[in-house]
Amino acid sequence: MKEELKNLIESASLEAKTIETENDYLNIKSKYLGKKSKLSDLMKNLKDMTSDEKKQYGPLFNKIKKDLESLFVKYYDNVLNKEEKITFDPTIPVNEEKGSLHPVTIIAKEVTDVLKNIGFMVLEGPEMESEYYNFTALNVAENHPARDMQDTYWLDNGLLLRTHTSPVQVRAMEKYGAPIKMCAAGRTYRNEDLDASHENTFFQVEGMVIDKNISISNVIYVMKGMLREVFNQDVEVRLRPGFFPFVEPGFELDCSCTICGGKGCQTCKNTGWIELCPCGMIHPNVLQMSGIDPEEYSGFAFGLGLTRLAMMKYKIKDIRVLNSGNLRFLEQFNVR
Ligand code: PHE
Repeated sequence: MKEELKNLIESASLEAKTIETENDYLNIKSKYLGKKSKLSDLMKNLKDMTSDEKKQYGPLFNKIKKDLESLFVKYYDNVLNKEEKITFDPTIPVNEEKGSLHPVTIIAKEVTDVLKNIGFMVLEGPEMESEYYNFTALNVAENHPARDMQDTYWLDNGLLLRTHTSPVQVRAMEKYGAPIKMCAAGRTYRNEDLDASHENTFFQVEGMVIDKNISISNVIYVMKGMLREVFNQDVEVRLRPGFFPFVEPGFELDCSCTICGGKGCQTCKNTGWIELCPCGMIHPNVLQMSGIDPEEYSGFAFGLGLTRLAMMKYKIKDIRVLNSGNLRFLEQFNVR
């Protein structure tokens, strides 16, 4: 085996010198260090070795791996340095025109920061999702109209553009189990006709808490606290029944209108309330499908419309300006 390792190092050192592009670097890395490499074949022998041999070969394998890795990096660095000699000239005047954060990014950060402060993990999930995570694992029936071409952008590769951030709940349950507190902000897509309040690309924040003895009063507490921080004022919330296949019972959470303080105005259509966030207790089927025992644990989840929240906070009347790339609009949000 020692002989084989020696040959391996020799040929890797020769080949490392031929690295000229990023692709060369990635190829050589996968050839010598990837799952199908000779080295990982040789490492498979470890499990049949005596403990003395293991003590000898274990550290040796690790050392070879590290050495090869730094060898490849070294040659790749040489290439990069040759390509772009970046010099720093401190006398060049600074360009004062800096960009600023997008209003939805600002709100997303505010919301996830508040949740992070009370112990939520901040996670991300893919925007290109499978039908399983977007629908099936969320208890959405096989023939539910939401799966239809009308609402969902299906991709040629059989995946879809996620229609909500709820699939991140499922991924989190599978990965971390219970108890768990998580949130995830991001883009979501639906095949909507555009008008002042509908976009095909919008943003949500998903939140989920699973533990023993969780009830809907926990949702109310968390949402009130979060909205107080985002709007810098106390807001009232109320729940109305709402249906989503992945929660039972399900609710629509309204908050008192932040514009008129609940007295009634144009924004809240004179009701004093604004529909903000669907939520509910996670359906036992959903817990079960992701390997959590619904007899032992319960949980709540919410899906807050970030785009709507940004519009409320910044009093934006037309949703279309948000994704328009219009700098005159975006430059007003002077947050970095
Ligand atoms: N995912 C739902 C939607 O976008 C919202 C939701 C999230 C409802 C979590 C209940 C619980 O329509």
